[in-house]
Amino acid sequence: MEDPVTITREANIAIVEVNNPPVNAASHAVRLGLQLNVKEAEANPEVEAILICCAGRTFIAGADIKEFGKPPQDPSLPDLVNQIEASTKPVIVAIHGTALGGGLEVAMGGHYRVALTSAKMGLPEVNLGILPGAGGTQRLPRLIPVAKAAEMITSAGMISAKEGHELGLIDRLDEGDDPRAAGLAYAKDLLAEGAGPSRTSDNAAKDADAVDFDALRAKVKKSARGIMAPVKALDAVEGATTMPFAEGLKNERALFTELLESDQRAALIHAFFAERSVAKVKEIEGVAPRPTDKIGVVGGGTMGAGIATSALLAGIDVTLAERDDDAANKARATVEKNLAGAVKRGKLAQAKHDAILANAFRTTTDYADFGERDLVIEAVFESMEVKREVFGQLDAVCKPGAVLATNTSYLDINEIAAATKRPGDVLGLHFFSPAHVMKLLEVVVADQTDPTVTATGFALGKKMKKIAVRAGVCDGFIGNRILSHYQKANFATVLAGASPFDVDRALTNFGLAMGPFAVSDLAGLDIGWANRKRLAETRDPRETYAAFADKLCEQGHFGRKTGKGFYIYEEGEKPQPNPEVEEIIAAERAEKGITPRQISDEEIVDRYMAAMVNEAARVVGDGIAQRPSDVDVVLLNGYGFPRWRGGPMHYADTVGLAKILNDIGVLQKEDDFLWQPAPLLKQLVEEDRNFASLNG
Ligand code: 3HC
Repeated sequence: MEDPVTITREANIAIVEVNNPPVNAASHAVRLGLQLNVKEAEANPEVEAILICCAGRTFIAGADIKEFGKPPQDPSLPDLVNQIEASTKPVIVAIHGTALGGGLEVAMGGHYRVALTSAKMGLPEVNLGILPGAGGTQRLPRLIPVAKAAEMITSAGMISAKEGHELGLIDRLDEGDDPRAAGLAYAKDLLAEGAGPSRTSDNAAKDADAVDFDALRAKVKKSARGIMAPVKALDAVEGATTMPFAEGLKNERALFTELLESDQRAALIHAFFAERSVAKVKEIEGVAPRPTDKIGVVGGGTMGAGIATSALLAGIDVTLAERDDDAANKARATVEKNLAGAVKRGKLAQAKHDAILANAFRTTTDYADFGERDLVIEAVFESMEVKREVFGQLDAVCKPGAVLATNTSYLDINEIAAATKRPGDVLGLHFFSPAHVMKLLEVVVADQTDPTVTATGFALGKKMKKIAVRAGVCDGFIGNRILSHYQKANFATVLAGASPFDVDRALTNFGLAMGPFAVSDLAGLDIGWANRKRLAETRDPRETYAAFADKLCEQGHFGRKTGKGFYIYEEGEKPQPNPEVEEIIAAERAEKGITPRQISDEEIVDRYMAAMVNEAARVVGDGIAQRPSDVDVVLLNGYGFPRWRGGPMHYADTVGLAKILNDIGVLQKEDDFLWQPAPLLKQLVEEDRNFASLNG
């Protein structure tokens, strides 16, 4: 393998260049190369300044995450950064792309920083359950105001080179596109000025008095929602204001090591790699996607308008069809509102917003306007009859080769595809609501979907900055199929004795963003009701059907939108448990002859996780999801599963599959139909393997 770090000379300047694609991660070989080459430059009497820069698409984007959890190898990153800073010759660092984590720490070890104006920088370690562990928590607050450093470190936020320059992190901006040239030019100017080394560790923390750490800690703790890293990172930053540099570094190291060894770190790094491996789909390797420059959307309700907004934000031209002018105008108003929201949040420039509405978006009531569209997404009412009708019409008007997608959440896409003469062009693109905000996209591949069509689904997802996951056809695909199952288990937990409020409390304490009953209220109880009615005819007679949610619906209580569901919603008030719910449930238990028992929060969580993992194992075993980590990505990004637990499959590996299987065995005695262990789960336990062994 080529040396990942090289040294060359231009007159009296040594150029130490990192070349470790794809993101120049500071792997062991890179650290070693930097150490040796900087040492060599130091020792060479002809060298008067040292430039550190990178080849390829970015400056060092951090420590090599793949090395975490493995035995450490010298030189460590903190030692390397200290060595760079200690250089007796000025060290200039030229930044392009994204200088992140250990990358920015290397840059801060240098004496002078020049950045291309297009560059970005940040310390995103807390996203991985760790903190900047190579001096970042000590040097950043010595370069920029402590308050801003604390904000960047605890929120994992990135700043632009321009902002970095204004704050004092970057010494010079360069308008060009060549980091090496920018670094050389700066090094020459510095030498001409007679500049010597300038070490950040000599500085005092900037504006330290302006920060109330106790107040800030309370704020960070609240927004961290169970993740330890941001709070520990703040402790480390505080050390920069109370301790001498060397002590602050030691303190940082101790806190870093504690986090490095935590389950949270393992879970968050699992999530990082899982989100990247979803893009690896065998059947589309080397397959070119079809164009997606101009798309059509059928239906302008919340979902259709959200999809249209998301596409417009991605620079795609959109035509949206509704059944009449009134509905089309409403859809337009929703899209306009969504786009205005994006402007307000700083996600879209006003001029771009105006250009989108003037040139890239139109509504129609005539499907003939889809004739030249590259891809059309249907987002109409969830009814097979209606969807087949829409697809028949699309088949008649769309050009050959156009991709026809359905946004159905549950329905059989093979049956929808059969309404056309081109089933190979049909696939599912299942967005999550609100579609312009939620990152998850299930790309559902039907029996006859052509690989180029699947590749197009992924290409569109990428353009829209979604996390696209391949799913097969079944009722609910990956996410909603698992959701249906764990909802049944939650209903069973309630019939057995817990209240819906106990379930919500136990699961929010476990880390869910919202309890499942509160979520049903938010989504609208009528949605689950309609779905249960759809499945009523095919329901297995052995299933114990819990009817209390249906009873609420029969009384006209659909959750938040009607002001009442499992909870009562009043303007400006915190939702309160609806006392009628307990009565309805008590009546159902009596009718079914169930004597309620006390169920602990721990048991609620165990039952919930057992149901989720069991159905997820079926989803993987049936080939609906490609690998267990794909299931994790779906639950993390579409269903509020706590990221610091890594997803249900990673969680199951952490507690042990034998425990999950054992829990299922115990629950089988309560309900032998609901709690059938998945064959894949049984097999893995027998073979003493975990889900991770299937991730590949
Ligand atoms: N270590 C190892 N591999 C990494 C990596 C890292 N730090 N960062 C990215 N990669 C890999 C990805 O896994 C991916 O591999 P694949 O092609 O095999 O799937 C490849 O590089 C490209 O990554 P992306 O698909 O994410 O490419 P993008 O262009 O979309 O994004 C990025 C690039 C912004 C650099 C993004 O990858 C990223 O955010 N990386 C993580 C940055 C980070 O967290 N750095 C801090 C690390 S921890 C640290 O430095 C500790 C220190 O304080 C001691």
